Amino acid sequence: MLSREIKVAKNADALSSLAANLFVDLARESITIRGSFTVALAGGSTPRKLYSLLASQRYRQELDWTHVSFLFGDERHVPPDSDESNYRMANETLLAPLNIIPENVHRWRAELSDSFAAADQYQAELADLLGSRDGSIDLVLLGLGNDAHTASLFPNTPALGESKRLAVANWVEKLDAYRLTLTPPAINSARNIVFLVSGNEKAAAVAQVLEGEFRPDDFPAQIVIPDDGTVYWLLDEAAASLIKLGSF
Ligand code: 6PG
Repeated sequence: MLSREIKVAKNADALSSLAANLFVDLARESITIRGSFTVALAGGSTPRKLYSLLASQRYRQELDWTHVSFLFGDERHVPPDSDESNYRMANETLLAPLNIIPENVHRWRAELSDSFAAADQYQAELADLLGSRDGSIDLVLLGLGNDAHTASLFPNTPALGESKRLAVANWVEKLDAYRLTLTPPAINSARNIVFLVSGNEKAAAVAQVLEGEFRPDDFPAQIVIPDDGTVYWLLDEAAASLIKLGSF
């Protein structure tokens, strides 16, 4: 039985506070139970506010960050100092301000010219890290594209069919580029999955994913059905504006 919670915040700032509070709650629970918290960060622009908030005076004291390990749900095939890099964005807004030690930051080696080699390296690093922590990522943070992609699982791309690997290089025709991404099995093995979605331009994708016909090849976020974890949809009112009230 899918455990799914949908929470709607007034605006983008309230959404980031909602997400920060949930992040802290899940982290505290995991650290208390397992002594550690492993989180796969989302890329794109939406999480910037959340990451800056977590690193702010308001939240930074809420956790012992030395128990937190950071993964990345996906990465562009660019060096870590590129404007496009999800690692760079997270490092500038969260990891560096919190002085996270390098041993606890597991970034994709996206600077490698061979994207498959980068995916193989991440596959090995993930297997090693998760193997030492009973195999599950505690929290996967995800965004949602206007086309209902999540991580770098884009519509009608090969990675949607991956059933064994945790990490792959995914050819995305419309970007004319490889993207590095966690796979459906990696995401769905998580204990908790949080979609963080803001803005009117996402409303149609949100409604399609949550209430539309089940067509995960066309609407990849629908492939996120955790094995036995919980999915939280954190939306602002704009992103939730096309959901039929009462459907959640
Ligand atoms: C990426 C993300 C991607 C992102 C969505 C939403 O690498 O871009 O992983 O899945 O979460 O495209 O992006 P925005 O938050 O910028 O709208």
